[in-house]
This record gives sequence, structure tokens and C-alpha cells, in this order.
Amino acid sequence: MRTRAAVIFGVGREWEVVDVELDDPGPREILVRTRAAGLCHSDEHVVRGDMTPPEELIAAAGMESPFPMIGGHEGAGEVLAVGEGVRRVAVGDHVAMSFFPTCGECHYCSTGRQNLCDLGAHAFEKGMVTDGRRAHRLSDGTPVDPILKLGTFAEHMLVAEDSVVRIEPDVPFVAGALVSCAVATGWGSAVRRADVRVGDTVVVVGVGGVGMNAVQGAAMAGARHVVAVDPLEWKRESSHTFGATHAAASMQEAQPLVEQLTDGRGADAVIMVPGLMTGDMVAAGLAMSAKGGSVVVTAIAGVMSTEVSMSLFDLAMFEKEVQGTIFGSCNPRTDIPALLALYAEGRLRIDELVTRTYPLEDVNEGYEDMRAGRNLRGVIVFE
Ligand SMILES: NC(=O)c1ccc[n+]([C@@H]2O[C@H](COP(=O)([O-])OP(=O)(O)OC[C@H]3O[C@@H](n4cnc5c(N)ncnc54)[C@H](O)[C@@H]3O)[C@@H](O)[C@H]2O)c1
Ligand SMILES: [Zn+2]
Ligand SMILES: [Zn+2]
Repeated sequence: MRTRAAVIFGVGREWEVVDVELDDPGPREILVRTRAAGLCHSDEHVVRGDMTPPEELIAAAGMESPFPMIGGHEGAGEVLAVGEGVRRVAVGDHVAMSFFPTCGECHYCSTGRQNLCDLGAHAFEKGMVTDGRRAHRLSDGTPVDPILKLGTFAEHMLVAEDSVVRIEPDVPFVAGALVSCAVATGWGSAVRRADVRVGDTVVVVGVGGVGMNAVQGAAMAGARHVVAVDPLEWKRESSHTFGATHAAASMQEAQPLVEQLTDGRGADAVIMVPGLMTGDMVAAGLAMSAKGGSVVVTAIAGVMSTEVSMSLFDLAMFEKEVQGTIFGSCNPRTDIPALLALYAEGRLRIDELVTRTYPLEDVNEGYEDMRAGRNLRGVIVFE
């Protein structure tokens, strides 16, 4: 069938909304009609070239260019058709996307770490999760690959059933979309990865779409102090709605505040969620953390960036930790429904994250609003 999708043709280009031809769903594949897609910063990283090695290196390695690529990995929709052998969903079901597939059977899925499912290892490769074939084409026949095997910036998605999680039919699609990345990633960075405990002091660096949910998670886990760090004043102000007790414009400004709040002990967790991660922020986070404290790196750095300077002496002598996290170390199949249940009961804020909605055609305007700091989250809504 034919659909419309926002495609990126190379680093530094704008999104272009074009026709895309999709195969019918093959075995264990489904066709989803997209209803909402969040504008996450990770797609912006693709546009900025942070997610892919420079084209020269790709060519030198004899690999194919990652472009053209259909954007979007945060989304929700309804199942329009199912292929042979699909067991997890049926036509008419509502689903949230999972930006790495979960097979349920590999070493990681079997040990409760679906966010590390072995199928995710191929997330940046081309072709379907199921059989590796190229099932999406531009109108001239050129194959086009959906980012993370999803491509939510499209009216329809052809995906593996492993890439979706069924949600209740009364969940608004925008909430379903935001839980599929921003909410779970931020909330889980605090609750699952940092393992925030009652009475803790937590610093969240960068309170955008993802970071605001780390604030929300830390508050829900019972943190005594939640310090929101962001250069934008309006985001610092909105952070109080999500449970922040204090705010600072920079890590430098947060450091003395944290010392004062903890009698000089430091933060139990510093969660890093700025738009772009850099090595120097790890050192600043470690300097702000307590003995036994941890720095959780949720934000994405340039794929070629390898430099981090930190006190290795402090790391050992003060038992500090630096931890990475993908999807906030949540299990999509249990945490997406659990977070949506909390939302339905009025205990998790999701609607308040949405600053503005856009039609698919205005995807570039949505990202312009992100760059200008006007959005907590922009969301594409498909009528
Ligand atoms: N690990 C994962 O699984 C995962 C999932 C989703 C997103 N991400 C990454 O998380 C990061 C945040 O994504 P987002 O969608 O919330 O982005 P966003 O653009 O909505 O928010 C980023 C926020 O950081 C603030 N900021 C920028 N520089 C800062 C600094 N030096 N100190 C403090 N705050 C600063 C900005 O003002 C903004 O409010 C991105 O790098 C994104 O790619 C990671
Ligand atoms: Zn995301
Ligand atoms: Zn698995």
C-alpha cells in the first residue's frame, strides 16, 4: 500500500513528507495506522549527524548509507492488518510502539531486561526485524528504512509484532505515544536505573520531554529534594508541576544548592538528560554526587565522542557510579501498561507534557520549536 512519511535524506537536511510504498504484513508483522507521534530529541540527533558515523567512514567501511530514513520512534496507533502467525495483537487493537523490539525469549528478555533484547542489536541496521527484507520503498523504488524499525512520522507503519505493546482502547493516543519513549525513559532513569529511594536528593540535568519525567519519577519514588537544572526559565518553572522542589539554571549553579540541601553530602543521583550529552558533564555530575552516588547518563552523545574526564580516584574511593540507560531500563511489556494505568488514575502527568500538536506536514516547524526551546514536547497528531 501507499502511505505518507517524513523522510530524512541526509545529515543537515530538512524532513521531507513523501509517498512511501509498503509491503503487506508478512509472518509476525503488522500494519499500524499511526495516530500520534512525539517529536523526541533522538530523531533530531539523526538530523544533526550525532547518531551515524560520518559518511566518509561509512563509505570506507564499505557500508551502505543509513539514508534515506523514515523518522520517528515515539508513537501509538491502531492495528489495521496482521500477517501470518501474529499472536500478540489483533486487528483493531491499540498499540504503543517499542523503540527496540522485544522477543521475550533471548537471554536479556528472559532475565527481565527487555530493553536490552538481542533483537535491538540490529535496530540501526536495515531491513525488517522478522526477515531482514527491505519492505519500505520511495515512489521511484529506492528502499527507505524506518528509524529503529518503526518510523512513527508516517501515516502507516509496517512493523514486527515484537515492536509494539498493546494498550487499553480508552487510552488517548497522545498519552500512548509519549509513554513509548519520553515518559518511560525519564521515569525509568530515576525509578529503575538510579533506583531512587525515599528521602534521596536527586538532580535532573535538562528538563525537556524526557528529563521532566525523571523529575516525575524521582518525586514518585519519594525523593526529598528534586533539583531541576535547565537554562530555560519556563521549563524550570514547569518542573515544579512535575514534582521538582528546587531549580537551577546550570550545573555550576546547582552544585552549591545541592551541598546546602544535603549538609555537604551531595546528591544520591544525578540524572543527565540534556539535548546533547558531552563528556565534561559526567565530571560535573560526579562532583555533585554523594559517596555511593550515581550519575545516570540518559542523554545521547555524538556517536564518535569518546572523551570523558573524571576523577578515577573519587570513583573508587567514594564508591561512585556512572550508569548508562536505554529506555530508562524499563521493560516495555510491563512498564508501558503500568505507567498508562497510573496516568488513567491521575497519578502520572502526561497531558501536561504536550506544548503543541502539529500535522505531519509541519514536522520541520515542530523541530524548529524544539531547537528554539519553545516545546516541552511537540506531538504530531494524525486525524
Ligand atoms: N537513553 C534513551 O533511551 C533515550 C531515550 C530518549 C531520548 N534520549 C535522549 O535524551 C536527551 C533528551 O531528550 P529530550 O527529547 O528530552 O530533549 P529536549 O530537547 O526536549 O530537552 C533537552 C533539555 O535540555 C536542556 N539543556 C540543554 N543543554 C543543557 C545543559 N547544558 N544543562 C542543562 N540543561 C540543558 C534544554 O533546555 C532542554 O530543556 C536527548 O539526548 C535524547 O536523544 C535518550
Ligand atoms: Zn525518544
Ligand atoms: Zn529478547
